[in-house]
Amino acid sequence: MKKTTFALKGDICYSKSLTELITLEQGYVICEDGVVEGVYHKLPEKFKEIEVVDYGNRLIIPGLIDLHMHAPQYTYRGLHMDLELLEWLNSYTFPAEAKYQDQEYARKTYGRFVDRMVKSATTRACIFGTIHVEATLILMELLEKAGMQTFVGKLNMDRNAPDYLREESPQQSAIDTRRWIEESRKRFVKNKPMLTPRFTPSVTDEVMVELKKIQQEYHLPFQSHLSENRGEIAWVKELCPYADYYAQAYSHFGLFGGDTPTVMAHCIYSGEEEIKDMKTGGVYIAHCPESNMNVVAGIAPVRKYLQEGLHVGLGSDVAGGATENLFVAMMHAIQASKLRWRLVDETLAPLTAPEVFYMATKGGGEFFGKVGSFEADYEFDAVILDDSRIPDQEGLTIEERLERFIYLNQEDDVKAKYVAGNRVL
Ligand code: GUN
Ligand code: FE
Repeated sequence: MKKTTFALKGDICYSKSLTELITLEQGYVICEDGVVEGVYHKLPEKFKEIEVVDYGNRLIIPGLIDLHMHAPQYTYRGLHMDLELLEWLNSYTFPAEAKYQDQEYARKTYGRFVDRMVKSATTRACIFGTIHVEATLILMELLEKAGMQTFVGKLNMDRNAPDYLREESPQQSAIDTRRWIEESRKRFVKNKPMLTPRFTPSVTDEVMVELKKIQQEYHLPFQSHLSENRGEIAWVKELCPYADYYAQAYSHFGLFGGDTPTVMAHCIYSGEEEIKDMKTGGVYIAHCPESNMNVVAGIAPVRKYLQEGLHVGLGSDVAGGATENLFVAMMHAIQASKLRWRLVDETLAPLTAPEVFYMATKGGGEFFGKVGSFEADYEFDAVILDDSRIPDQEGLTIEERLERFIYLNQEDDVKAKYVAGNRVL
């Protein structure tokens, strides 16, 4: 069968590694059946006949990867930043998430969330829903229609939650989780289920045992929160006498990397043992700098994790973070790392613009397979950015334009977006 092949032309920028940023002025990136064929300064002879979409001197970058966000919290982004994590959850998050019992409400508000996601530079994401099966299926249906490719989690919560947002029993939690997985597998191809106990304090050991069984049956990835807040960590110690440190509250059940692809959000206070377990298990860290600051959790030592060779991606953690805009997350990652360096530990150098760009693309993208770069055989996720609104651009290199875009971008600067070769914006 004939291949579907086209090229995008423009000022191209992508990461090969943490320290290697590749740029091509007026280059071509070629898509063949949804996958990157190659990147060229001049269109090769054999591609002379293909369609070339010329984006002039706009920037062409890989789609961004949000490794951690909460769709139901989108309704109150930018509000209620006056409390620390555990009080914030009880006072604002749980009442907001309880509303997703109502399917009409879910369709309306998730519709707005997905609409914004499509217009953003994000192509892939790991998304928390709520405990509600129907609302989570609605979210997945909307993402699927929009052409996004995500992992979505129906949450498990059967303890330490208010009556109105607590699953009836571990058995019911497992039954609902299975029903949601079966339904979503029947209905969706691009948006897939991901096992999502909210965090250790929200789930009993019985649920964890059930989740491991489900994980083995369906081979699903796993996501949760880890070592975000000191009060939370002390609470986990009380709740899980078998765990010497937080990661063991997951690994005790076989749910911490290895044969269970895992994303852990935050990891602000991970000690040497936890770091070792993350490395052994190939666990992905979702660094969420804005959330670190907003719920006053602390600042994750990202430089240390990078030096240890751990997988680190970026997360917006909406609504711990106020925005889904990952350029803002990149800016916050740099700024937070500088404050940490100055105030906490001067041995851990601040992050640079190419480093946070890597984290937001290939770093997190690898969780999805070959995603987040324009190297050959990577899935063709591409975003077109128009930075012409920003004055004083004369003579800047592509790398300088990218750095500036991280600080000065606005929502509607994203002009087009392709996910696995399909145009979605
Ligand atoms: N830990 C458990 N639930 C949450 C949540 O919704 N947001 C954040 N930031 N941390 C959590
Ligand atoms: Fe979170």
